[in-house]
Amino acid sequence: MIGELYERALGNAQDYAIPTSSELGFTGKPHSPLYLDDRSGVQIEDASGTRRPLPVKDWLRLRPGDEGLLSRSAGPVLDVGSGPGRLTVTLTERGVLALGIDIAPTAVAMTVAAGGPALVGDVFAQVPGAGLWRTILLADGNIGIGGDPAMLLRRLAQLLAPNGRILAEVNAPGVPSRREQVRLRSGETVGPWFPWAQVAADDLPQCGLTTSEHWEEANRCFVALTP
Ligand SMILES: C[S@@+](CC[C@H](N)C(=O)[O-])C[C@H]1O[C@@H](n2cnc3c(N)ncnc32)[C@H](O)[C@@H]1O
Repeated sequence: MIGELYERALGNAQDYAIPTSSELGFTGKPHSPLYLDDRSGVQIEDASGTRRPLPVKDWLRLRPGDEGLLSRSAGPVLDVGSGPGRLTVTLTERGVLALGIDIAPTAVAMTVAAGGPALVGDVFAQVPGAGLWRTILLADGNIGIGGDPAMLLRRLAQLLAPNGRILAEVNAPGVPSRREQVRLRSGETVGPWFPWAQVAADDLPQCGLTTSEHWEEANRCFVALTP
């Protein structure tokens, strides 16, 4: 996720413009031409050597399951690890105040070019509006950022408004949670190892947060966490 290979994968993907919500009919259901092969050639590799494609194309356009996240997002929304910004851009188009934050400059540039406010930054460093965010999004497995979900959730709790909630995409109940080192690979070129994590809906760390809602959509699993 982190480093030059991620920037390169995003750069390659820029051939495909992010369509507006109106092009998507506000349904969150992509038209068939929007289903694209992953041509970035960049893979995620774990310590055992197992590799899977980095699904950059999934992050360029609204995908099945996004609508539930979007419809639950009361502004102001902080989209943590916003990538190329499909959620931030769509919320903005819908009149919901939203800000993407991502450590990858190319991702942020793509978001801004598509009309979404975003800044380059680390969620563990200084973030504007601390204590004011009504919704914080952790989409696409971003509960794994930093490799320590408890640390991430404690950090997000500091950023959340008292009546706010975190909407996080997680693994289905029963799927083993894991914390691991991963890296990106393209052929023989590898990036640095970085920590990542996966968490199941029924294995969320206790961080003073309560799971107030759990829903599934399009084979994706989500929770809402409240202080
Ligand atoms: C799985 S991708 C998420 C894609 C994104 N949700 C989207 O809608 O396109 C994870 C993203 O988290 C970002 N990221 C990783 N660590 C971060 C950190 N500490 N602070 C902010 N963003 C981070 C990566 O740069 C990457 O864009």
